[in-house]
Amino acid sequence: MLSQINSNFKVKQVEKSRISEVNYETLSFGKEFTDHMFVVKYENGKWQQGEILPYGNLSLSPACSALHYGQSIFEGMKAHRLAEGGLALFRPYQNIARFNHSAKRMSMPEIPSELFMEGLKQLIALDENWAPDREGCSLYIRPMLFGNDSFIGVRTSESYVFVIILCPVGAYYAEPVSVLAIENYSRAEKGGVGHAKTAGNYAKTLMPVELAKSQGFKDVMWLGGENHNIIQEIGTMNVFFVVDGKLITPEKDGTFLEGITRESVIQIAQDLGYEVTERQITIDEIIAFGKQNRLQEAFGTGTAATVHHISKIAYKNEIIDLNPEKHVIANHIKKTLESIKTGQYPDKHNWLVKI
Ligand SMILES: Cc1ncc(COP(=O)(O)O)c(C=O)c1O
Repeated sequence: MLSQINSNFKVKQVEKSRISEVNYETLSFGKEFTDHMFVVKYENGKWQQGEILPYGNLSLSPACSALHYGQSIFEGMKAHRLAEGGLALFRPYQNIARFNHSAKRMSMPEIPSELFMEGLKQLIALDENWAPDREGCSLYIRPMLFGNDSFIGVRTSESYVFVIILCPVGAYYAEPVSVLAIENYSRAEKGGVGHAKTAGNYAKTLMPVELAKSQGFKDVMWLGGENHNIIQEIGTMNVFFVVDGKLITPEKDGTFLEGITRESVIQIAQDLGYEVTERQITIDEIIAFGKQNRLQEAFGTGTAATVHHISKIAYKNEIIDLNPEKHVIANHIKKTLESIKTGQYPDKHNWLVKI
């Protein structure tokens, strides 16, 4: 299939790397970008030749369609240093499939998997020394696609720009998260775009998240359904609960992002012998389980956050406090997942793609 795309990208390298300006001891999330980026345009009904360029600003028309009408999608994936040396991507073809799923829903052209993967591999090969080797750190990959017509009027754009940038990152959250299951706002509903990774899905969450923060919570747990009580997800994570020693997580209903970490966690949990059920879960149930001391753990899952403890769940006048130090199952799964990603635990499902 590779023959159908032109993987002979134009490459313009930086004259001097910026890597010495980055303090790897204090890496946070999303602030540092590597020396290069991969850019490929879609014009005249086809993908043009890809380019690897010095990381830098893009030049856009003020009439750029994505800025006005929101045709903009992205992905989040990671490469890790392997214990044996070298780097590996974690389930990248899942991200590519989801990217194209989002593209389709937002009426955008799908990108050939080979073009995406070749651009990514060549970009990482060039900036490989930026990948951190500290525990808990990785090379975060941000592919994005946006409509680039210079045109005012609501219609599907005819031209697009696909870009991949890379960031060396540390932890996304510094500590366990407290969440507010919010009553008066929703992120997604059936028939909407909750399942697509599109920019507007995040924009609409910002104000309610600020509201939750002003009440002392770190993030929002999104609810939906007719009675606005069905749990969907949290911020940038899917959610799991441990009730009576068993894992439960919301079943896919198109209203939340179907996380690759979620799917991996379900598989790992089952491999480790835990029972996992995907089903509709209401916030009322979770509060009741909390009050009956049956809710033992709650955690979020996502590429950026990995497996992350939830310390508190609030809803209306109720607050359930959890003790992350006792979250044995979450820790077991997290450790196993991290060890698979870094080649320290058997990759029996062939999730790693070495670069
Ligand atoms: C809204 C939302 N939900 C869930 C997730 C988790 O998805 P994944 O595990 O594929 O990173 C993310 C992160 O990508 C997200 O942004």
